[in-house]
Amino acid sequence: PTTLGLWALIGYLLGSIPFGMVLAAVMGLGNLRSIGSGNIGATNVLRTGNKLAAALTLILDGGKAAVAVLLARAFAGEDAAQLAGLMAFFGHCFPVWLKFKGGKGVATFLGLLLALAWPVGIAACLTWLATAVIARISSLSALVAAATSTFWMVVLGYGQIIVMGAALTLLIFWTHRANIARLRKGEEPRIGQK
Ligand code: G3P
Repeated sequence: PTTLGLWALIGYLLGSIPFGMVLAAVMGLGNLRSIGSGNIGATNVLRTGNKLAAALTLILDGGKAAVAVLLARAFAGEDAAQLAGLMAFFGHCFPVWLKFKGGKGVATFLGLLLALAWPVGIAACLTWLATAVIARISSLSALVAAATSTFWMVVLGYGQIIVMGAALTLLIFWTHRANIARLRKGEEPRIGQK
């Protein structure tokens, strides 16, 4: 239990690093809170017009969850890996450094899936991509990828993480509540639009 607590903390701390904000500050892109949706994720970083910063945000926000999972797995096994990934997601969405107002958890979700159950991670990334190619709306792609992730878990033989998948899907719908309201009104911007 002590070890699990330690991995939960490490996962949370890694997840709580707001790479989008750090990169926007370091690269002089302005304050993400006053750009587009105000979110700290890659989609909103792209609204600054800097594609490199957006790509780095995506990779680092996904990578921090993957690192949490892989480290925990290497040192403490599968339960610790799952907990570390879950806590990285919480850290990203509710970081203590930003008064618990963090991101929406999409890159972090994909990163933790890739590390925890890579076939499911790839299926979720492809689902995101396919939706993005068709609809060109980042939030919609995220919602479709999250909602179908439990399906992929069952089909690809990772039923043991389905409860976690369902919980994270609900949380992703929660973090996207403003996006869902815009989608319903037909006011959600397309990828790259301000
Ligand atoms: O990854 C977050 C994305 O799904 C939505 O971002 O900035 O359009 O709210 P944003």
